[in-house]
Amino acid sequence: MGLELRYGKLKYISFIVLDLICLYLANMAAFGIYVEQTHVPYDPSDHLPVLIIMIVIDVAVTLVFNTLQRVLRRRIRIELFDTMTHIMISFLLLCVILFTTKQGADYSRGVVLLAYGIDYILLVTVHIFWRSFLQELGKKSGRPNALLISNDGFVEEGLQDLAKTGIDVKKILLLLNLHRNEISGIPVVADIEEAAASVCWEELDRVYVYGIDRHTVPEALRKACAEMRIKIDLVDFKYRILDVKTVQNKDAKYGSLTFLEERRDIPFNIRRVYWITETEANLQRGFHAHKRNCQLLFCPHGAIDIIMDDGEEKTVVTLDEPGKGLMLMPEVWHEMVWKESGSVLCVLASEYYDEEEYIRNYDDFVAYQHKREEDL
Ligand code: TYD
Repeated sequence: MGLELRYGKLKYISFIVLDLICLYLANMAAFGIYVEQTHVPYDPSDHLPVLIIMIVIDVAVTLVFNTLQRVLRRRIRIELFDTMTHIMISFLLLCVILFTTKQGADYSRGVVLLAYGIDYILLVTVHIFWRSFLQELGKKSGRPNALLISNDGFVEEGLQDLAKTGIDVKKILLLLNLHRNEISGIPVVADIEEAAASVCWEELDRVYVYGIDRHTVPEALRKACAEMRIKIDLVDFKYRILDVKTVQNKDAKYGSLTFLEERRDIPFNIRRVYWITETEANLQRGFHAHKRNCQLLFCPHGAIDIIMDDGEEKTVVTLDEPGKGLMLMPEVWHEMVWKESGSVLCVLASEYYDEEEYIRNYDDFVAYQHKREEDL
């Protein structure tokens, strides 16, 4: 609820006020119908205390159960379900109060039941109309506003890419965040929940995921976007050549120093490091693809060709200097060819070793690729 107030204060409060008006009107209508149909002598003043309790319950349920969460972007099915949940909880709470108090027996349960029934229909209708009205009001003819989801390693590149396509980035979500609050003056949200609230209430109309492997886009985020009818524009790449930071000494006798820092240079958590040594020229290794594992390969000594194949085209990258790294995403068939004997291959991997996660047969790899394409 705090998030709703933070990102859409006035709109959120407008929904609460409308809900209360609906509840009042529903009670008036139910009261009129009940008295007219049953001719039971039931006075409006008898009903007033129960109406006040209903209003208090309504506000409490809205705030405690956050039943107006993402109301601005709800689909009709979710609208029907969430509003029903709200009504059911309120009705149950009221029943408990009426049954457990002595005075409760004096109130007409018929009116209460009818009022909640009418309230349900009113709420759904008002939510739909008010939502469309606010959305129309918020529509600007200008450039689309986006939430950019990326990580420390690629966020700047993502911002540049979006600037070129004429999209304004209003918020950033970093999946591996080094506690940055803003990047190039654009605020960074704390987590996925906050990102979803911001997308909902601030009417960001695009979610743009840059430089993160599509398998690592968190499920919660996919769900939130699907719920809010926002398509995720995904820029995932198969590989990327990285310049690994190298400190050169003026005096060559000190050699050179190259370093990589997790999160700053590598957009995944490192779970495993391995290296291949004592090699002969023309050695060939690899001949597999990974289902989940992201890797950063580099060759601190010698020269090694990395042949990558995504099932459609082959690319060769030669790692022949310590400062040249290759970010290799999953689902790329790769083979390594040693160009010089003694060349060393170092690999930083995002996953623990798991044979199940390997695809070691090329035909299986192509079939796996086709299946993945169909699934998406
Ligand atoms: P493999 O990945 O097949 O090497 P390459 O693709 O370079 O030819 O691994 C060779 C063997 O080493 C295989 O039996 C599994 C084992 N291995 C581990 O136990 N842990 C590891 O982290 C790696 C990379 C391999």
